[in-house]
Amino acid sequence: MNITILGVGAIGSLWACYLHNAGHHVSLWSRDTAPSISLSFAQQAPIQFSANQISDMNNADLVIVAVKAWQVEQALLPIIPHLKKGCCVLFTHNGMGAVDPLLAQLSEHPVLFATTTHGALIDNQSKIQHTGQGQTTVGALNERGALLSSQIVPMLDHALAPVSWDDNIQQALWNKLAINCCINPLTAIHNCRNGELAQSETLTLIQALCVEISKVMTAEGLTCDSDALFAKSQQVIQATSANFSSMHQDIQHQRRTEIDYITGYLLQRAKAQQILTPYNQTLYQQIKQKEAQQ
Ligand SMILES: NC(=O)c1ccc[n+]([C@@H]2O[C@H](COP(=O)([O-])OP(=O)(O)OC[C@H]3O[C@@H](n4cnc5c(N)ncnc54)[C@H](OP(=O)(O)O)[C@@H]3O)[C@@H](O)[C@H]2O)c1
Repeated sequence: MNITILGVGAIGSLWACYLHNAGHHVSLWSRDTAPSISLSFAQQAPIQFSANQISDMNNADLVIVAVKAWQVEQALLPIIPHLKKGCCVLFTHNGMGAVDPLLAQLSEHPVLFATTTHGALIDNQSKIQHTGQGQTTVGALNERGALLSSQIVPMLDHALAPVSWDDNIQQALWNKLAINCCINPLTAIHNCRNGELAQSETLTLIQALCVEISKVMTAEGLTCDSDALFAKSQQVIQATSANFSSMHQDIQHQRRTEIDYITGYLLQRAKAQQILTPYNQTLYQQIKQKEAQQ
């Protein structure tokens, strides 16, 4: 396939290298105009990718949007007029709500979302590290996207397994968002690893967050039991105890976080459903204050 990766950061570069190694024609689209970009991956010789060529964008069968949630709209809008008919657009960011304003403009294209638990880092020499083996779940954001499941899943799975299809991607995205709402803001506020949240006072707060989240999810027509969410949050805290969450790292590096598309999205839906969410609201405000101090 002709594949263009929009956003040459950690996760975009990881997919670029795996898809290149799987035999696809992969090109990159970054913020600058360099006609080629070289990425170093594993023990391989650096891979040279064509970059920032309108012709590559015109020929792409698949565009993978690998920017952060708050960068999605600005990155993709100028690209849409260059996409050929039938080109599939696959989003990979964390959080929810970033794609909604673009769906009408993408109505002629199959639109998919991939949520992944792989971990990746890229250094300033464009050397990519695959820091955590994970799995990827793909689902459709429109009807055209749903028609592509039998093509896209085996193709991605061949490149970076395991990849599975989920007919109810909204539930999968909300499940991930719910866990992120419980863990990410608290690790950033307390400047701690995920495992340090497993103290009685913090767990009591997480339990209260879970009650609010489950009310919102239920009102949105999704399945969520607050006790099960609390149990899952504790499992994730334990399984990732040594990790720093992405929101913690963003605050530490004085970068904008994805809070608006995680807790912020929850608050937006809570407001629409007229559900009070004071515990989540407080965490949201604390992260926004930290962002404002940067
Ligand atoms: N890294 C992981 O392990 C991982 C795992 C799972 C999910 N995710 C999610 O994947 C998303 C991307 O994360 P990441 O870690 O890959 O972030 P990242 O390293 O910051 O990569 C984002 C890339 O997009 C580029 N970009 C931003 N705006 C652009 C534009 N208008 N045009 C072209 N390129 C643009 C950025 O360039 P600049 O540097 O110039 O801004 C950067 O290279 C996030 O939502 C994250 O939560 C990441």
